[in-house]
Amino acid sequence: MKNGKIRTYGDCVAVITGGASGIGRAIAEELARRGAAEIIVADLQKDAAAETATAIRGLGGRATVVDLDVRDDDAVRQLATSTFERFGRVDYVFNNAGTGVMGETHLLQKREWDLLIDVNIRGVANVVRAFYPRLVEQSFGHMVNTASCAGLMCTPFLSVYSATKHAVVGLSKAMRVEATRFGVRVSALCPGAVRTPLLTGGAIGGSIYELTDEEKLAFWESMKPGEVTPFARDTLDAVAKNEGIIVFPKHNRTPLTLFRLLPRLEETIFGKLHAKTLRDFPAIASMIRRREKQN
Ligand SMILES: NC(=O)c1ccc[n+]([C@@H]2O[C@H](COP(=O)([O-])OP(=O)(O)OC[C@H]3O[C@@H](n4cnc5c(N)ncnc54)[C@H](O)[C@@H]3O)[C@@H](O)[C@H]2O)c1
Repeated sequence: MKNGKIRTYGDCVAVITGGASGIGRAIAEELARRGAAEIIVADLQKDAAAETATAIRGLGGRATVVDLDVRDDDAVRQLATSTFERFGRVDYVFNNAGTGVMGETHLLQKREWDLLIDVNIRGVANVVRAFYPRLVEQSFGHMVNTASCAGLMCTPFLSVYSATKHAVVGLSKAMRVEATRFGVRVSALCPGAVRTPLLTGGAIGGSIYELTDEEKLAFWESMKPGEVTPFARDTLDAVAKNEGIIVFPKHNRTPLTLFRLLPRLEETIFGKLHAKTLRDFPAIASMIRRREKQN
C-alpha cells in the first residue's frame, strides 16, 4: 500500500493523543492554522477534547474527537484501524498524552510509579505498536513522541517521570534510525517547562506534596516556562525540518549541551536547586517528614 509521500501540514491527516489540553491542543490548533485536512483529537478528557475540536473548526479545520485512554491497548488499536479505514493514510502521529507526579523517589508509592509507567511508557508504546507498523507499510509518515528535557537530563523531584521520558527518548532515537529505510520519520519532542495545566498536575497527575497551585507554579517559574502557542509553532517548524530531538523553549539547549559535556556540572547545579527548593517550600519539607513517618 505505497500511496505517496508525507504531506506537509496543508492537507495532512494528523492524530494527536493528549490533544484536549496544553501542548497537544496548541499543536492541534497550529495544524489547523496550517491547513491540515483532518485532525483526530484523542484524549481521556472528552469535553476538553471537544473544545479543541471546536477551536480547530473555528480556524477552518476539520476535527474528530475520540475518547481514548492510551493505557487501553485495544482502544488504541481500534483508533488506528478506524483512522486508516476512514482516511486511507496518516501523515502525522503526535504521541503526546502524558502525565507527571512530583515527589522524591523514596516517598513515591507504587500507585504513583504505576501511573507514570502506565501512561508515559506503556501508553506511548501502545500508540507506537498501533500506528508505526502502518506508517512503515504505507512508506511515509512522521511519528512525534513527546518526551521531555527531563528525558535528557537530571530532574530531582521528578525522578520517575524523568525515567519514563528517558525511555521515550531512547525508543525514539532507535526508531528514527530504523524508520529511515522505510521513508518514515520519527522525532522525540523534548519540551522544557511550558505553561500548561500539567504544571499544576493536569487531569490525572499531581504532586505528593500538599502544594497550592501558586506554590507549584512558583516551583516551575525558576525554569522559565515558555508559552504554549509559540512552542507549538516552533515545534511544527522543527518537525517539518525532520529534526530528531526537538528542544523548545530554546533557552533549554545551552544547559543541555553543557551537561552532556560536563556531567559533574549538572550534578552540582541540580544539587543546589534541590537544596534551594527544600528550603524555599516548607510544604515540601513538612510533607516529606509526614511521608517518611508513614513509610
Ligand atoms: N508542560 C510541560 O512543561 C512539559 C514539559 C515536558 C514534557 N511535557 C510533556 O508534554 C505532553 C503534554 O503535556 P502538557 O504539558 O500539554 O500537559 P496537559 O496536562 O495540559 O495535557 C496532557 C493531556 O494528556 C491527556 N492524557 C493524560 N493521560 C492520558 C491517557 N492515559 N490517555 C489519553 N490522554 C491522556 C490529558 O487528559 C491532557 O489532555 C506530556 O507527555 C508531558 O509529559 C510537558
